[in-house]
Amino acid sequence: MRFEDRIKQKKSQEKIVMLTAYDYQTAKILDETSIDMILVGDSLGMVFQGCKDTKSVIIEDMIYHTKAVAKGAQNKPVIGDMPLHSDASSEIALKNAMRFLDVGAKGVKIEGIKFETIRALTDAKIPVMGHLGLLPQTANVYKVRGKNPQEATQMVEDALELERCGVFSMILECIPETLGERITKSIDVPTVGIGAGKFCDGQILVINDMLGFDEGFKPKYLKKYLHISKQISKAVETFSVDVRAGGYPDDEHSYH
Ligand code: KIV
Repeated sequence: MRFEDRIKQKKSQEKIVMLTAYDYQTAKILDETSIDMILVGDSLGMVFQGCKDTKSVIIEDMIYHTKAVAKGAQNKPVIGDMPLHSDASSEIALKNAMRFLDVGAKGVKIEGIKFETIRALTDAKIPVMGHLGLLPQTANVYKVRGKNPQEATQMVEDALELERCGVFSMILECIPETLGERITKSIDVPTVGIGAGKFCDGQILVINDMLGFDEGFKPKYLKKYLHISKQISKAVETFSVDVRAGGYPDDEHSYH
């Protein structure tokens, strides 16, 4: 069965679990877990490149990281995130989506209501994931979207149109829980939320965020499952103490 049909079948049956990854070793770890899909998100602009948003991420960056992730994740569908400008027209998007597939992605994600472009890709049998709500590629401020009734109704309409365009699922980012529920109930393809409440068909988090790489980053939706920055600091300080005291390398870690 095609992976996108497996994902679609999960709607209302079993929650979909998704995480981002940007490198080979992390992907290899995720490959051996029970999660359903891996997104190589353009969030790498922030967590990998140290930029303030995703706007400067280019297709070459995404292809480089997707290639590494796909090498590590042999058993999970890897979805490549189309960065800003990479889907500027249907022709450009088709060419770039093929680049993702060539390096091992099984599908792509397109941010926003680019219906014609999405239809061109799905017509070409490329699995596409949609993305509504907060759209970091074009947003000037990061805030919850769909709070007023008109904006909420428009988002439901957009979700229905994305479904008609053939997306196999869609991300809902930073919207009220009630709107997450309304959209999820209005469409037949699964919704995967990030800050969109518990009624979505699945959840995604940026792996660096849920592992706690940045203690200062704490949006309301984020639950940290680890505080890895503290563990890294502790390990590094222990190493420093060892080296300075002559405790490393010891006999066990030296060649004889
Ligand atoms: O770029 C990304 O990681 C994303 C997720 C937050 C959904 O788009």
